[in-house]
Amino acid sequence: MLTSLLRDAAPADCEACSEHRTNFLLREDSDIPLPARLPDELTTRPGMVRVQSGPVPRGVPSPWPFVGRDRELQAVIDAMDSSEPGAVVVAGQAGVGRTRLAQEAVAVARRAGQPTAWATGTRASSAIPLGALAHLVPVAATSSTPAAMLHHAVTALTGSADEPTLVVGIDDAHLLDELSAALLHKIVLTRSACVVLTVCSGAPAPELVSALWQDGLTSRIELAPLSDSQVAQLLSAGLGGIVGSRTSAELSRMSCGSAALLQELVQAGHETTRLRVGDGVWRWGAVAPTQRLIEVVRAQIGELNADEECALELLAVGGSLGLAEVVEVTSSEAVAALERRGLVTAERVSRRTEARLAQPLHGEVLRAQMPQEVARQLRRRLAGDIARQWRIEDPIRAGVLLLAGDGPYADPGVLATAAAHANAERDHGLAERLARAAVEDGAGCAAHVALVEAVRCQGRPVEAERLAMDARQLAVSADEAAHLGVTRALNLFYGLGRAQDAVSELDAVAASGATDPASCTALAARALLSFSAGRPREAAELAAAVLVPAAAGAAGVGARVLAAAALTGGLAVLGRTEAALAAAASGWAAAEGRVAEPEISMARLALAQSELLALESAGHVRRAELRAAQLHGASLAQPGPGGDGMAVLGLGSAALAAGRLATAVRWLTEAAALLVDGDPAGCLPRCRAQLAQAHALLGHRVSAARLLDVNAAAGRCAVRVFEPEDILAQAWHSAAEQRIEEAADRAVHAASVAARMDQPLVEANALYAVVRLGRAAEVTDRLRQLAGLVEGALVPAFVAHADAVTRGLGDRLDQVAAEFESQGAWLLAVDASAHAAQAHERAGRRRPAGRSANRSADLARGCDGVQTPARAQLAPLLTRREQQVATLAANGASNQEIADLLVLSVRTIETHLARAYRKLGIGSRIDLGLLLVGAPER
Ligand SMILES: Nc1ncnc2c1ncn2[C@@H]1O[C@H](COP(=O)(O)OP(=O)(O)OP(=O)(O)O)[C@@H](O)[C@H]1O
Ligand SMILES: [Mg+2]
Repeated sequence: MLTSLLRDAAPADCEACSEHRTNFLLREDSDIPLPARLPDELTTRPGMVRVQSGPVPRGVPSPWPFVGRDRELQAVIDAMDSSEPGAVVVAGQAGVGRTRLAQEAVAVARRAGQPTAWATGTRASSAIPLGALAHLVPVAATSSTPAAMLHHAVTALTGSADEPTLVVGIDDAHLLDELSAALLHKIVLTRSACVVLTVCSGAPAPELVSALWQDGLTSRIELAPLSDSQVAQLLSAGLGGIVGSRTSAELSRMSCGSAALLQELVQAGHETTRLRVGDGVWRWGAVAPTQRLIEVVRAQIGELNADEECALELLAVGGSLGLAEVVEVTSSEAVAALERRGLVTAERVSRRTEARLAQPLHGEVLRAQMPQEVARQLRRRLAGDIARQWRIEDPIRAGVLLLAGDGPYADPGVLATAAAHANAERDHGLAERLARAAVEDGAGCAAHVALVEAVRCQGRPVEAERLAMDARQLAVSADEAAHLGVTRALNLFYGLGRAQDAVSELDAVAASGATDPASCTALAARALLSFSAGRPREAAELAAAVLVPAAAGAAGVGARVLAAAALTGGLAVLGRTEAALAAAASGWAAAEGRVAEPEISMARLALAQSELLALESAGHVRRAELRAAQLHGASLAQPGPGGDGMAVLGLGSAALAAGRLATAVRWLTEAAALLVDGDPAGCLPRCRAQLAQAHALLGHRVSAARLLDVNAAAGRCAVRVFEPEDILAQAWHSAAEQRIEEAADRAVHAASVAARMDQPLVEANALYAVVRLGRAAEVTDRLRQLAGLVEGALVPAFVAHADAVTRGLGDRLDQVAAEFESQGAWLLAVDASAHAAQAHERAGRRRPAGRSANRSADLARGCDGVQTPARAQLAPLLTRREQQVATLAANGASNQEIADLLVLSVRTIETHLARAYRKLGIGSRIDLGLLLVGAPER
């Protein structure tokens, strides 16, 4: 009866809390299936009705693993763990995960052997005296007076002194009826049980409930909305696997940090197949709200009058709008009411106040529900005066509204400008729609250039080439022909692998009598192609010709940024790192605040790639990681995903250089999936090579081989600058297959390819792989020569390593390892330490050998368990047990404590320690402490 009563009472107009939609009280004898999302079984003391309550699963197959709230869980447990039975309130906005946190805390207590109980306050049960907590009260007591009943209940809950304390979870305590609230208050006051309660922040609660924290009887934990990284953790745990970083950021934005909304979104994504896994990465197409999601969001929005509804619809269609315009169409009362309810926010942007929907998801749902005709009328209204206002201020928005305005307001010039801007913002899908509309309306060559760029960036180079050819006769000026020619050349080179044709096209632009700016752009593009083709010196010379002050006056921003990218890349592989980084900085300065030039979008991508290359190849690993993270953040901040592939590749590359191999695999897998959909700078082969290398170093031979096969089958592409990296990846794959000689041969080959391409720093990096693979003597002289050709401390460190290995100088190798470690290049430090251990060992210096071997092992653990031939040659000094005992001893444990911990006799511990001392060449625990320093912190 209670069940049906509660179920029927679930009100349509309830607040955002989920109690009405999910929580029921179920009697033990009920034939209704028990909910699956409960904190396992919850028990109460004998004599009470055993009740299971909790959210009813609605299509969500099982709860997601609990992640991301460890600190909060610990805080709840600590609060309950005080000497007397403690009480703690978990407060938070709707959906943040209050119930789950309380459930987890109760489950921890249950696993520790404490009896537990659970109850839920609901809007329906709040009307029934003791509605929520009846099941905690002994059946006999319920018929007595309230005072007697409370007394009985508390006595029963307290139990006898030798029984463990009962832990009670009370969900949504703000909805308790007065009598339940009184009982709860009494339980807490008399410390009869440990209590964890949840309340919805800001919701009115019975006086006796709010008195709990106001009078200091409970501690209160405010559960903040999930952060972006917590959302990423939840998604990855819930979906299992890699979740694309834009998808994660987008879902975080739409859910506003609510775990409940996040789950609803994921569920809707599954149902509409918008959330799909491909190439090992979960990605989100676009929001298509399901009926269920619409219901949830509608419940959040609540009742609206006609003006309020209209204002929300207007904002759903128009994005952010001037507050005055929204008020003009609706009414100031409506807008004020929406603002008060937190549905609309208003903020000052330059000289006017802009209004927008507070939650992006509301816009999605409102648009999905809006009748076509209403949407059309609203767009028409917006497409008129408002769109005209936006031409300058926000050309993309103006273009989008014109696009939706059904023709009468169409203006091909605005559409073409909007398309160019959308390309610059990397929203190539939108750019394509805008450019096509502009082309249909008879727009000129600029619209065609934007269309070619949009199509090529979406991975359709053949179609882009056809469009470029069709557009040729439309160019009415030399400048227009130049823009088209450059865009076509980029497509020929990076999309179609037709390097020679691309160069001819650029030469034609330069010779076509175009004005200086157009020739400069062609020259800059030539420079970039030279770099990509593996001719860094030529690239640097061409780029410098664009950037010399005289030419710079003529060169447009696009040309200057393109040239800076080519110069940075060229100087990077030539080993002129500082000059490369200075060129990058000047490129970024030129690009600042500029978006619409057709070349600038490509130029920015290339500049980012070159800058990271300069940092990584010179061994500035930490700086590379930081910069890659910044560039990735900037890419995610762009409305379109077109730059994400290269940004994520940057993260993966930097992680690989740092030796964070698992992280590298995660990012490079995502990058590969993204680049398959659009690879404007021909980075996919490099991405696969790096992913193969990361896999190989982790011992994943099959995955590495598969990726290298795909690269081999793809054939030669015009981008050749990264060929040595591909050959090096093959080398590490051979090493993973234990074909060490073959691996070293391949590394030698990679070095010779780099040498042929005049890339001394890349050559040095490849030769250093030869050293790590055990053939130092063969390459030391050449490394020494290269150290004279390139800047920085990296190659001298390579030389020092090669020389010290050949001469058996363990201490010198330890120094080299420390140098690498201080730069964040742990992968290199692992092998340098391993070689140091071998050198010490050969010299009969057991103690330093032990220290270096341990260092190498620690570093290798920090590199996610990297497996290299240098490490494989290290005989394990200590057995697993000896290592375990020695580490505990080094951390200050006594023999007795170690024996207790490992359930061994003290005598056995002594034997293990004696053996460890002998092997490590030491004589005391103090020495052990010095030797086993533990894994370094990253
Ligand atoms: N840290 C977490 N890890 C995994 N899943 C979580 C986490 N937090 C919440 N969830 C899941 O998100 C959903 C919503 O969480 P929960 O019901 O605890 O939120 P709430 O704040 O109690 O919401 P409401 O306002 O609806 O009561 C649940 O399915 C829950 O299992
Ligand atoms: Mg809840």
